[in-house]
This record gives sequence, C-alpha cells and structure tokens, in this order.
Amino acid sequence: MKTLTILGSTGSIGTNTLDVVRRNRHLYQVYALAAGRNADLLAAQIVEFRPRIAALATSADVSRLSNRLIDLGLPRADWPELVSGDAGRVQVSIAAEVDTVISAIVGVVGLEATYEAVVRGKRVGLANKEVLVSGGKIVMEAVRQYGAELVPVDSEHNGAHQCLRAGNRGQVSRLILTASGGPFRNTPKDALALVTPAEALNHPTWRMGNRITIDCATLMNKGFEVIEACWLFGFAPSQVDVVIHPQSTVHAMIEYSDGSVLAQISATDMRMPIQYALTYPDRWEAPVPKIDWTEARKWEFLPPDFGKFPLLRLAYECQKAGGAATCVLNAADEIAVGAFLEGRLAFPAIYEVVAETLARMPARSPRTVAQILEIDGEARNVAREMVTARANAVTA
Ligand SMILES: NC(=O)c1ccc[n+]([C@@H]2O[C@H](COP(=O)([O-])OP(=O)(O)OC[C@H]3O[C@@H](n4cnc5c(N)ncnc54)[C@H](OP(=O)(O)O)[C@@H]3O)[C@@H](O)[C@H]2O)c1
Repeated sequence: MKTLTILGSTGSIGTNTLDVVRRNRHLYQVYALAAGRNADLLAAQIVEFRPRIAALATSADVSRLSNRLIDLGLPRADWPELVSGDAGRVQVSIAAEVDTVISAIVGVVGLEATYEAVVRGKRVGLANKEVLVSGGKIVMEAVRQYGAELVPVDSEHNGAHQCLRAGNRGQVSRLILTASGGPFRNTPKDALALVTPAEALNHPTWRMGNRITIDCATLMNKGFEVIEACWLFGFAPSQVDVVIHPQSTVHAMIEYSDGSVLAQISATDMRMPIQYALTYPDRWEAPVPKIDWTEARKWEFLPPDFGKFPLLRLAYECQKAGGAATCVLNAADEIAVGAFLEGRLAFPAIYEVVAETLARMPARSPRTVAQILEIDGEARNVAREMVTARANAVTA
C-alpha cells in the first residue's frame, strides 16, 4: 500500500489522479490533499478519500472548507487536520508517512512544496512543469543529492521516460516532443490579434486547466516542455526538437545514435501517465481507451512555425542563456496569460509582454528556492507594468 499526497487535488491532473486512486484502492491511500480556493470540491474529496491532512491557500479558504464539511454532515472526529498557506503545502509534502507526492499545482506556487518533497527523498510524480522551468537547476541538484525519484506526468516527458528505458542513455542522440499545434495551428498570423479567450481555450485534443490551455495556443507550453525535458533527461536545448502532430497520439520519440527512433503512443488520457508515475517500474491495467488498429488513420508530423509562435523560440533562447531567464519567462507568461484571459491584452501581446519583461530584468543565477521566488515576484511586477502600459495606450 503506497501513501500519497496530491498537491493540486482539485485541478485537472489532481482529479484524474484521484480517479486512478479510486480504481486502485487496494494499492493507494491518500494521506493529504492540497488545493487553492476550491473548498467545495476539496470537501467532497475529503468525504470520499478521508485524508489525514487537507490544505488550502489561505485561512479564509479553510473557514469555507469547515463550513462545507459541516453542511456535508461529516462528523468532527472524521475531519482531517486543516492547514493553509506555504507552510501547509510544505507540511503535507514532507510528512514521513508519505511515499509519493503528485505535484499538480499550477504555477511556481507549487515549487517549494515539491522541492521539499525531493529533499526528503520521496518519489515525485511531476505534472507541475513550472517547478523545473523556474527552478530546474536547484531541483535536479537536490534529486541527485537526496536520491529522490522524479517521474514525469506530463504526457510528452512521460512518453520520453518510457522510450528511454529501451536503450542506453549515452547512445541517445535526440528527443522529439510532439505538439498538437493548438487551436490556431491553421489561423493566419495576421488574424491572431483578434482571437478571443474563448477561442484560445478551445483546445483541439486535451481538456486541461486555463493557463496550460492558453500556453498550448501560443506554443509557450511546448517551450516550457523543452526546458523541462532538458532538466529531466540532461539534454542540451539543441538536442530537443518539437514537431507538430495534430492527432496528439504519438507523445514523444527518442532517436538513438544508430538512427533508430522509438515512439510512445497512447490515447489522449492523462490517467495513463499519472498511473505510470505511481506504478513505475510496473505497469497496471489503466482505464484509458486502447487504440483501435483495425481503423484506418492518418498521423501528420509538421515543423513548428517559429515566426507565428515566437514564444517557442524564446524558450530555447532562455534555456541556452541559463540562470534566472526561464524563471522570468514563466512569471511574465503567467501574468500575460492572466491579462489575456481578462480581456486586457491581445493574443500576440502575450509574447510582447514576456519579451519586454525578459529584456528589462537583469541576468541572475539563483541558488535557493527563496531567491527564485524573489526573482519570480520581481518579474511579475515588471510584467504587470507592461500590461498596464499597453492597456493605457489602448484607452488613450
Ligand atoms: N491538465 C493536464 O492535462 C496537464 C498535462 C501536463 C502538465 N500539466 C501541468 O500540471 C499542472 C496542473 O495543471 P492542471 O491542468 O491540472 O491545472 P488546473 O486544472 O488549473 O489545476 C490547478 C491546481 O492548482 C491548485 N492551486 C492553484 N493555486 C494554488 C495555491 N496557491 N495553493 C495550492 N493549490 C493551488 C488549484 O486549486 P483550486 O482549483 O482549488 O484553486 C488546482 O487544484 C500545471 O503545471 C500544468 O502545466 C497539466
């Protein structure tokens, strides 16, 4: 029986993780659930999974959670310990009872708790890509130092992890990450200025949280994945290629030095990579559709358009630059995406805000999580100024 903490239990990855647990109750027990603001869903999860601790973002969220547990009639004796804030997230990650932490909070707010789980030598199923985009160097040094296991949940990296098991890492020449191309794959560049948040949120193949869905539309998400892959598997940016594959069925490919290419193929259902991160090196039956090979099908592979999606190019440049560049990239993108979703920024201006923030921020080499969070905060402030300046220019 494995004991789990799920960071981000109310999100898309979190609820899929709980579905895997629901189907494998004899294998997994939930020790702790951590979420942000969604007290209603967390209360329902508490009633179903009976964790020992539950965390929310603030003490006000915890009050709402308490009221909800009363409404649901859960006897006080069955309530978990309720905690909040940064300290609460860290507490549920480092508990000695926990073997595995699923890191599925969105954004850099999940960095500290994930890092602390790594420092305790736990297995971490990593969905939160911002952890490695912001703090890749520090987190990977801790993985090596404390013997933690980082198993990727992101479908492309999970696919690469599977392909890498087939050969010797020293004989790998390239990683190829696939991208659906997002909802604007066939939209002319000039028309992007008029696309709406609703159109950008309409991802052709995956259902995910809002931030990652917009990042898929700009290809920033694929850029983050290039960075994540470099840290996870020790690749140089020049060894990671991106190819557009609209069917999202081949997730990643590994090219070995003899030219042989191995691909990982599965349905677009995150429960498979989540379950793999839990059961690795074993495999269990998963509740995902199997590919029907009796059906005729067509799979396309196309080069990405770096001119139309400049954030992908920027991600390569930031990973090459090193230091805090990728941390700034992530922070500025989160602010710009938020402004786009609120209707304060046009779609192409997401890139402009991110590029200008990078240009304004000095180069630095953070050595601690606290320093990363400080740089992240500064970059957010600069990005907010850029957004406001643009909004003022539009209304003037
Ligand atoms: N969804 C996918 O298929 C997918 C695939 C690959 C990688 N990922 C990555 O996985 C991560 C999660 O993605 P998602 O799609 O599941 O996002 P999501 O649906 O937006 O869920 C985000 C989760 O983070 C929680 N959260 C936000 N702020 C928090 C805070 N201050 N403290 C604690 N929890 C907080 C949210 O809680 P509340 O809702 O309660 O506020 C929610 O549980 C992202 O980094 C994403 O890039 C996702």
